[in-house]
Amino acid sequence: MSTVTSIREGAVTVIRFGEPPVNSLGRQTRAELAAAIAGAIQDPAVSAIVLAGNNGLFSAGADIREFGTPAMLAAPNLADLISLVESSPKPVIAAIDGTCLGGGLELSLGCHYRLASTTAKLGLPEVKIGLLPGAGGTQRLPRLIGVENALNVILGGEPVPAKLFAGTPLLSQLVDGDLLAAAVSFAAARGTDHQAGKRLPRARDRSAAGPHVEPLLIFARNTVRAAYAAYPAPLKCIDAIEAAATKSFDEGLAVERSLFIELMFTPVSKALRHAFFAERAAAKLADVPESTPLRDLKTAAVIGAGTMGSGIALTFLSAGIPVVLLETGADALERGVSRVKDVIEGQVKKGRLTPEAAHARFGLLKPTLEYADLSKADIIIEAVFEDMAVKKDVFLAIDQVAKSGAILATNTSTLNVDAIAAITSRPAEVIGTHFFSPANIMKLLEVVRGRETAPDVLATTMRLAKTLRKTAVVSGVCDGFIGNRMIEQYVRQALFMVDEGASPSEIDAAMEAFGFAMGPFRMSDLAGNDIGWHIRQRRAIERPDVVYSKVADRLCELGRFGQKTGGGWYDYRKGDRNAYPSAVVDDLIIQHRNANGMVARKIDAREIVDRLVYALVNEAALILEEGIAQRASDIDIVYLTGYGFPVYRGGPMCYADEVGLYAVVQRMNEFSRNPHGDPSFWTPAPLLARLAASSGAFNSTGARS
Ligand code: 3HC
Ligand code: NAI
Repeated sequence: MSTVTSIREGAVTVIRFGEPPVNSLGRQTRAELAAAIAGAIQDPAVSAIVLAGNNGLFSAGADIREFGTPAMLAAPNLADLISLVESSPKPVIAAIDGTCLGGGLELSLGCHYRLASTTAKLGLPEVKIGLLPGAGGTQRLPRLIGVENALNVILGGEPVPAKLFAGTPLLSQLVDGDLLAAAVSFAAARGTDHQAGKRLPRARDRSAAGPHVEPLLIFARNTVRAAYAAYPAPLKCIDAIEAAATKSFDEGLAVERSLFIELMFTPVSKALRHAFFAERAAAKLADVPESTPLRDLKTAAVIGAGTMGSGIALTFLSAGIPVVLLETGADALERGVSRVKDVIEGQVKKGRLTPEAAHARFGLLKPTLEYADLSKADIIIEAVFEDMAVKKDVFLAIDQVAKSGAILATNTSTLNVDAIAAITSRPAEVIGTHFFSPANIMKLLEVVRGRETAPDVLATTMRLAKTLRKTAVVSGVCDGFIGNRMIEQYVRQALFMVDEGASPSEIDAAMEAFGFAMGPFRMSDLAGNDIGWHIRQRRAIERPDVVYSKVADRLCELGRFGQKTGGGWYDYRKGDRNAYPSAVVDDLIIQHRNANGMVARKIDAREIVDRLVYALVNEAALILEEGIAQRASDIDIVYLTGYGFPVYRGGPMCYADEVGLYAVVQRMNEFSRNPHGDPSFWTPAPLLARLAASSGAFNSTGARS
């Protein structure tokens, strides 16, 4: 089916292009667009050409799915197309509606004039996928809006309201009304001017040079070196913009082209592109069609106003959804309501919310001690103590009052969602919504699909996640779901390394240098070391065969639960969240090693990183094969959005694929010869072993890499 149509309006040809949803400029669109433009140029009855996108937007840019494939370069490539537009002997006018990003904006920069609707947004987001604008954007934009503004647009990568470009050579007109009609009449007038001999304005003929360019570039380089050390693209963007200001247009284009190709094949760009598609793939359910009818979710209820319950309530309030918040006693309810109020007031103080909006938001909260008040809620989320007996009472009560068709959700982090569903008379309506702490801030939501969860309950909960601005990943039922089941192996391995000779701060430093937001010990201190302690106590009964280092138990026996008790693996000072190495802990570790006859050895950063990341990867391979996760890229998203895994490495599965699964298994075999720890730990999961043997990859299917 054709993606491009041409119609004539008097002497103006209007060419509309693009396929839903975002009019990306893939091979077919480029070819058809080039043919339509060439046809209009050749038609003697045409005096000017208008380019406009279909589907209410201009274009989101190049088709990212083509990157790294021959289709990206197939003629006409984007640069060829833009050069055809720019060299047109007849005026070409871009009519920009809605979104105009990346190669879409670059196409418009090749046009002689641009008109935009007042609601349009323009941007060059390539830096977010580890690239630079590679179709002339780094050369034309500085010539139109100056080097400083171009640096901001290109390095920021965010869409900018078209209004902000009013009065610059980037925009000839801002249109509040019928954009296409305005563009056609503008084009007719420019066609007449041009026939009368007026020269066509081209971005390439302007200059970006100026006296302030050099200090601006120095400042920009220093800033990105400090803030984005792991990302190669921002510095290359600056190099390309520098070429715009110091070289001829064609030389600058050549610089841009070669930097673009160089970046395209970096692991960082591959990882960021993987993350882009992985996030979107996670919202799709393999066996639940997109056409599944969704339930209406207009009101919510949350049971338990503790840490999680109040955070979850806040999340609904921020999305404008009224929430009933239920507690067992007036004091606990009051504490929960105060927590909600404090956060909302904090947003007013920070200028993020007006007092009126805060008042309206807080007004959506209805605190209660009565289950009867839950009877109108479309979704009820339980966030009470992590104790099956307590949850059982709560779900029996919910079952009594919830209206027919309400979704019943549990925020449990470890309990069996199927067992919780079985308490009720309607297991098909029960689902897990595993928010992360702080629930109003963390992006990740693990949506736990029970054995009997109805498809429309699942689909509705996934849509709700989007409304709440969360990134949802579906998990099956198992202990710890996707994220915490993997983190248990990671922490187990970190503790073995403490036994063997590494200090918590050496391990944290190695993981933070790898790019984690926080190493395992700082993370445990933040979450509370008592959580892991309870899990190990439970495991000692359920799985006595699983070996744990005892060093963390010794720490907990001292009451060092982490930040909340003023000490954990590190010491903490009042009013200060920094972690200070602890002499008490150093001593405890030495005593623990002596008691177990262990001679400490130096463990280098590479071994620390490999052991911890491969511990995640091996457990993830089991999770994938068991069908707990739908696809490898979902696991990557859990780790990118919930566990501080470095985004530029694409998640544990993407990273393992980049290293090569054969090499990963070889390294695991080396670790299995380590006399300490659990010898079975490093047995490769069957899926990992098979993929390694067949030169396969976790992410070869599912999200596009
Ligand atoms: N190429 C291919 N597919 C794209 C795409 C692109 N540039 N942009 C979006 N899509 C796809 C998404 O993968 C998604 O597909 P799916 O339905 O199969 O999951 C679909 O379009 C809709 O996307 P979103 O779910 O993100 O829709 P939203 O409405 O939330 O957002 C958007 C729309 C703001 C356009 C957002 O998709 C976006 O930011 N896209 C990326 C834009 C971008 O990075 N452009 C630069 C491309 S690189 C380039 O142009 C190189 C050039 O300089 C040479
Ligand atoms: P919390 O102890 O801070 O809050 C629990 C609240 O539930 C308390 O305010 C308590 O008064 C209330 N409560 C207890 N029994 C109740 C009942 N029968 N009816 C109504 N309210 C009752 O606990 P937290 O941390 O908020 O955890 C809640 C749930 O969220 C647990 O299942 C936990 O495993 C899970 N979770 C916790 C995370 C965390 O980091 N704290 C992260 C993800 C999930």
